[in-house]
Amino acid sequence: MAGFNLIHWDQKYTVHVDAIDQQHQKLFDIINDLIGRYEENEKKCYDIIEQLVDFLAEHFRVERRLMLEINYPAFAAHMQQHDNFMNKMEEFIKACRSGENITAEMLAFLENWIFTHTTNVDTKYGEYLLKIRPKGK
Ligand SMILES: [Fe+2]
Ligand SMILES: [Fe+2]
Repeated sequence: MAGFNLIHWDQKYTVHVDAIDQQHQKLFDIINDLIGRYEENEKKCYDIIEQLVDFLAEHFRVERRLMLEINYPAFAAHMQQHDNFMNKMEEFIKACRSGENITAEMLAFLENWIFTHTTNVDTKYGEYLLKIRPKGK
């Protein structure tokens, strides 16, 4: 199977809130770390998946607060995406707890969801934010 490509954050993915951009960069770092471990055959996933889920839970809370604060029109649909993703993560956590290794399928899903959501969905509230607060922040 072909290897995974690492993901890189770029200024064009900004959501115009520095703290959230930093979280997105950290999220990409965690995914890249996971890919590195996977490819070095260090496939035990428990710690890093737990770390990822804790970090994401906090990240989703921060986004939720922001979207509520700015009365973001697509709030409900965005929350639904976070919830669906967390449900899927639950399955991975269960597998990890029972000692299963990281699988290519798990990693592909994580990488794809996080990259796509961050660069296509989160950026939409960034654009909205910019529209209502032209200077950002
Ligand atoms: Fe995000
Ligand atoms: Fe989001």
